Amino acid sequence: MNPTDSTTMAGTAAKTYANLIAGREVGSDRTFASRNSSRLDDVIGHFPEATKDQVRDACQAAKAAFPTWSKTPAPIRGQVIGIIGQALEREKEALSRLVTREMGKTLKEARGSVQEAIDTCHFFQSEGRRLYGQTVPSEMPNKELVTYRRPLGVVGIVTAGNFPIAVPAWKIIPALLTGNTIVWKPSEDAPAVAYAFAKIILEAGVPDGVLNVVFGGGADAAGSHLVDMMDEGLLDKFAFTGSTKVGRMIGEIAGRNLLHPTLELGGKNPLIVMRDADLDNAVEGAIFSAFGTGGQRCTSAGNVIVDAPIYDAFKERFLARVKDLKIGDPNQHPDVLYGPFINERFFRNWETHYQWGKEDGATLLHGDGRIRDDSKPAGFVGDPNAAFYGWPTVWENVRPGMRQFQNEIFGPTINLVKVDGIADALRTANAVEYGLSSAIYTNDREWAHAFKEGIEAGMSSINNTTVGAEAHMPFGGVKGSGNGTRESGIWVIDFYTYWHAVNDDVSGKLQLAQMDTAYVEPKGTVDVSDLF
Ligand code: UN1
Repeated sequence: MNPTDSTTMAGTAAKTYANLIAGREVGSDRTFASRNSSRLDDVIGHFPEATKDQVRDACQAAKAAFPTWSKTPAPIRGQVIGIIGQALEREKEALSRLVTREMGKTLKEARGSVQEAIDTCHFFQSEGRRLYGQTVPSEMPNKELVTYRRPLGVVGIVTAGNFPIAVPAWKIIPALLTGNTIVWKPSEDAPAVAYAFAKIILEAGVPDGVLNVVFGGGADAAGSHLVDMMDEGLLDKFAFTGSTKVGRMIGEIAGRNLLHPTLELGGKNPLIVMRDADLDNAVEGAIFSAFGTGGQRCTSAGNVIVDAPIYDAFKERFLARVKDLKIGDPNQHPDVLYGPFINERFFRNWETHYQWGKEDGATLLHGDGRIRDDSKPAGFVGDPNAAFYGWPTVWENVRPGMRQFQNEIFGPTINLVKVDGIADALRTANAVEYGLSSAIYTNDREWAHAFKEGIEAGMSSINNTTVGAEAHMPFGGVKGSGNGTRESGIWVIDFYTYWHAVNDDVSGKLQLAQMDTAYVEPKGTVDVSDLF
């Protein structure tokens, strides 16, 4: 589409924005449009397709900014994080509305996701006054042992569009606080939110070159250029949120460069409902886990695993709720549960699972692909042709091994899977290659305990949804969901710093560890049977 003839919802011409490199706005010859996910004719803005040279410039700018930023005292860096948090609070409503407009989640969820970024700033502002190392006793006199956390250097960051501010904040805020500098390639689905967030960070007082943003999308574009910078030796760390396939590729490249990347990848999250569960609570939890954000969270539920004795009762109540769901443009209808697909590609990927279901012998209980004029759920509001909206889709007779059981579908689809008892439920829940989030609904302490011990996941809820991790808990998965790194809270600090072990010898002579150490010999031996 020609940038000059595109217009915003208000009828004005959409503006063209630039990359942010070394504190300057740097445009590119080629641009792409960011559109309102709920109304594709509303262009939010045009964003540059950064060239490889521009991505390299950004890395060099970050490298040049590193010495000063890394030597800025951590409490002062914490103050900057605090100012970013205040600006986010001030701009929360405008940012939330932009999140809703650009990627299509409801305003309630958008506000929650901006709040997650604010909470992250609050947490890391004061971490600048901790960032603890340790003092450790030496085995020799007149010698001190100390550990320091040191920043890694330049961090390359690539993020997804479904959480366009919260998830970037999980990476950017701790990376900055610990003294690293950054080149960020945000999702092509949410460049406007990224631009606004980056401007807030830069205007808070982050020096030029400390945060650089390069835009672009698709293969052979800014994201892959940034990945290539690992082989050029310009990055000291890579952090990625996205698919397991791309994550593996980034992991391989990072590995040969001896970098330890942060990889937050896909999920196929199980939600178990046991026979003793509070069914109304379980139904509400399953509905939001499956259909909240249109199923486009990496923590969305993929399989609802239901204990046989309550299977029919659960199915009946669940389907009654599904038939009632309100769906539509969240900009115009604040009470919808979910809006459109973030982009056409996600919609097309989602659509193919209908074929899988038919071929693999699952039973379709509800759903009919794309919402169209001639095929609308009762609760749909608005114009189905304005964007890509999907029917809430429910399958049963789904078993491990079927493609829709195994694969992340990333859309409003859920499988009902019948099991018999806790052992069968856990076996079934674990029969996927992912291990991000998980949930169980039960009031039985032993079953809850068996779940906590037996589930293969980085995150688990008891009597709550698979989504909605709190901002100060470790976020991440096992198996195909990641490489063991964690985001958020104190845990993330380990992945943006290395430990520097320092020994300081004031003895004035050569003292060798293990060799000049005074080892204690026992004075004698005691035989207790001789004493009594
Ligand atoms: C994601 O989908 O990549 O736990 C992140 C949650 C949110 C974050 C999801 N706080 O659902």
